[in-house]
Amino acid sequence: MTIDSVAVIGGGTMGNGIAHVSAQSGLQVHMVDVSAEALEQGLATIDRNMDRQVKKERMTAQEKEAAMRRIQTFTDPAEAVQGVQLAVEAIPERAELKYELFGTLDREAGPDTILASNTSSISITEIAARTSRPEKVIGMHFMNPVPVMKLVEVIRGLATDDATTESVMQLSRALGKIPVEVNDYPGFVSNRVLMPMINEAVFALMEGVAEVDAIDTVMKLGMNHPMGPLALADLIGLDTCLNILEVLHRELGDDRYRPCPLLRKYVAAGWLGRKSGRGFHTYED
Ligand code: CAA
Ligand code: NAD
Repeated sequence: MTIDSVAVIGGGTMGNGIAHVSAQSGLQVHMVDVSAEALEQGLATIDRNMDRQVKKERMTAQEKEAAMRRIQTFTDPAEAVQGVQLAVEAIPERAELKYELFGTLDREAGPDTILASNTSSISITEIAARTSRPEKVIGMHFMNPVPVMKLVEVIRGLATDDATTESVMQLSRALGKIPVEVNDYPGFVSNRVLMPMINEAVFALMEGVAEVDAIDTVMKLGMNHPMGPLALADLIGLDTCLNILEVLHRELGDDRYRPCPLLRKYVAAGWLGRKSGRGFHTYED
């Protein structure tokens, strides 16, 4: 199936990036958030990021305007999913929220609509089991920042069929991304490998091994990472990192994934990283 319309559920860090690349590639986009303010901020972020592409002559001003016009906003997922061929969920990393949303999407979307989740760690098989179409449920895991990062980790649940997987692989390529297919295990490949590194960096900070900037600089200059692990945690969102680590810890049953108490403390304080203006680093805008 060729996909030319998509509902993106959640207009936050990831949702607005997914809406951006989809609209830029010519898809009709329904961007949905329960918060009207988040929708407004999401559209402003897309506008700003597309302006950057126009300035760099990667896109013309007319192409930008046409892409922005392809994005419609909604506050009700049931309404937004009408008539689209694909829904990509990008709401917070909490299983109960996703289960409830997929119940709604399953009831409201057309019978052929593919239901994808951008989850970082939660079982696609369990999400799919909440629907009457588990063969059409799949993980479509974009990386942050979406307009820049090439990877889409495509996660097959136990019941996901070949046609659904092929449609999502094809769409990912049409969006200018490189899809990699993986199986459904907690954290998949990306976060099973990334989150223990971030967690260990937070332990190093908590134990006084080094200050924030020193930890980030060691990993940037010593390992050639584009940003240090604490800056990367701020980019991802510390609440999201904590939620992912909790899934890894619970589902894999191994204490090596236990979230660092300092990470919990930051989240409890509302220091969530870039999106709240303060995490391990502070952000002016
Ligand atoms: N949106 C759109 N474009 C952006 C952007 C954003 N938020 N941030 C940066 N860019 C663009 C810039 O315009 C610039 O474009 P050009 O190359 O075309 O000039 C390019 O990205 C590089 O940006 P900068 O020069 O400003 O900064 P940089 O070189 O430091 O790169 C970065 C910024 C791309 C974020 C880079 O630091 C990086 O790759 N960091 C690591 C990101 C990463 O690991 N992401 C994965 C996180 S884990 C995840 O996503 C999965 C999960 O489930 C948690
Ligand atoms: P976020 O907190 O930035 O945004 C989530 C948005 O969802 C908010 O705007 C919120 O108002 C909205 N929302 C909450 N419940 C909703 C509902 N029922 N219906 C519609 N909207 C709702 O979160 P995020 O960082 O964009 O993460 C979204 C998903 O993407 C998570 O599953 C996360 O694990 C995953 N992910 C995050 C990253 C990252 O780096 N942040 C990378 C890859 C995947």
